[in-house]
Amino acid sequence: MKIGICSDHAGVEYKTKLISYLLGKGHEVVNFGTDSEESVDYPDFAHPLAEAVEKGEVDRGIALCGTGNGMAITLNHHRGIRAGLAWNTAIAGLIRRHNDANVLVMPARFISYRMAVSIVRTYLTTEFEGGRHLRRIAKIPVAQ
Ligand code: RB5
Repeated sequence: MKIGICSDHAGVEYKTKLISYLLGKGHEVVNFGTDSEESVDYPDFAHPLAEAVEKGEVDRGIALCGTGNGMAITLNHHRGIRAGLAWNTAIAGLIRRHNDANVLVMPARFISYRMAVSIVRTYLTTEFEGGRHLRRIAKIPVAQ
């Protein structure tokens, strides 16, 4: 899978380790930054990741910030994005099965790195169930 990944300063440590993990599992990774612990603004990294997912330049996205909410809120402003916030493996599975989330968001300051890896593994290996959930996600976009 080709995976785009981004974080702010609060998520950069986990992002750096996750890139190695994903490459080790044979995935292609596109890193949208940030790459230091200097304080940055999460939308500066969320928007480029969202655009890459929307354009099909990557298959899926992964984003991390302190709570996950800044990234999730920003990503979900993009019409083609369904970003799901997950802090355990049950939710990681459900954002795929029920929401067909094309971006996984994690709250780096509130989960262990070990949990982040488990969440990523579950997210990447769980399929969308379709059916009634397809009808529901079709109703998400706001008319423009
Ligand atoms: C950064 O301090 C923090 O606000 C950010 O990582 C995130 O939690 C915002 O939603």
